[in-house]
Amino acid sequence: MKISNDIKYIGVNDTKIDLFEGQYKVPLGMSYNSYVILDEKVAVMDTVDAAFTHEWLDNLEKALGSRKPDYLVVQHMEPDHSANIANFLKNYPEAKVVCNAKTVKMIEQFFGESYEDRQLIVRDGENLSLGRHTLTFIYAPMVHWPEVMMTYDSKDKVLFSADGFGRFGTWDADIPWDDEARRYYIGIVGKYGVQVQNVLKKAQSLEIDVIAPLHGPVLKENLAHYISLYDIWSSYAVEDEGVVIAYTSVYGNTKKAAELLSDKLLYSGVKNVVLHDLARCDMSLAISDAFRYSKLVLATTTYNGGIFPFMNEFIHGLVERGFRNRTVGFIENGTWAPVTARQMNKMLEECKNLTLCENTVTIRSALNDASTAQLDGLCKELCSGWEQTGK
Ligand code: FEO
Repeated sequence: MKISNDIKYIGVNDTKIDLFEGQYKVPLGMSYNSYVILDEKVAVMDTVDAAFTHEWLDNLEKALGSRKPDYLVVQHMEPDHSANIANFLKNYPEAKVVCNAKTVKMIEQFFGESYEDRQLIVRDGENLSLGRHTLTFIYAPMVHWPEVMMTYDSKDKVLFSADGFGRFGTWDADIPWDDEARRYYIGIVGKYGVQVQNVLKKAQSLEIDVIAPLHGPVLKENLAHYISLYDIWSSYAVEDEGVVIAYTSVYGNTKKAAELLSDKLLYSGVKNVVLHDLARCDMSLAISDAFRYSKLVLATTTYNGGIFPFMNEFIHGLVERGFRNRTVGFIENGTWAPVTARQMNKMLEECKNLTLCENTVTIRSALNDASTAQLDGLCKELCSGWEQTGK
């Protein structure tokens, strides 16, 4: 794949991977992107996962023709991108590693040596001329590790964005970008909204025609859309109005309540209502939907005097990613001691700017007239404010 006359794609698609980062389901695979810039000097942008050493080195050799690389720019040390640094340096003994001081320490930790005589340490904002192309390094700490930097090529106006703007799925997977990019962003970088905002501010002054991330497709069109989504996600703003109902159910009674609430909301005209059975759905999708929509209802049973395990995991996933700025309602179920509304509320205490619904639904074993009336109250409260907007 050609990015420009001088920049070629040399990454790989991983179609056999089951869990990315050991936890995220990726039914459409994953790509580990790498690029080469062929100028008077030749720069390679990152390596790929250890499972693809030979394919990547072959891709690189083919792109180089008779030339040899001068630099390996290491933007990120997570092994899905850095695993082949030592192999590269062995294959190309004249090449130098371009990185920052934090990267050097990690290279030593991963490879047992820091290749001191082969380092070119760059500072934030520093330039490196390749000839026609000048690379500017933009530190992006915690997007998604502390050593991360992005790289801007002012000639072809390409932002090499490291993990930023990546998405699950092979680079050529024929899927809309937004959903798998959101699941990727919220899952992996969601905790670091402030740091992403800082990078977006730095990027504002750059003229960008192409975003070349380390995962997923190279973005060449409609960049304002992708940047705007990153701005929404990293500022924890609402992307779409709607209600997510996340539930766990043992014998189906809590599920019935969740589904009845969904029906009532839809009947009231709410356009977006999303149900997630937390024991069976992809947890990372449920979490990313909670960040996508404006309102969330948590419905769960009491179990061992506490919250049912999958709901515990879900709420923990929200809290550790900085969930905030949303409306939250509760449905609790317990045959002799329903206590989970209070406990879920407590788990969410550190989340900023949550509006908690006044109408909590308490079910004792199964829905009855009283708890159904409470559901009506919760439905009405969730719909309030949407009467004029068409929901
Ligand atoms: Fe794709 Fe943070 O590694």
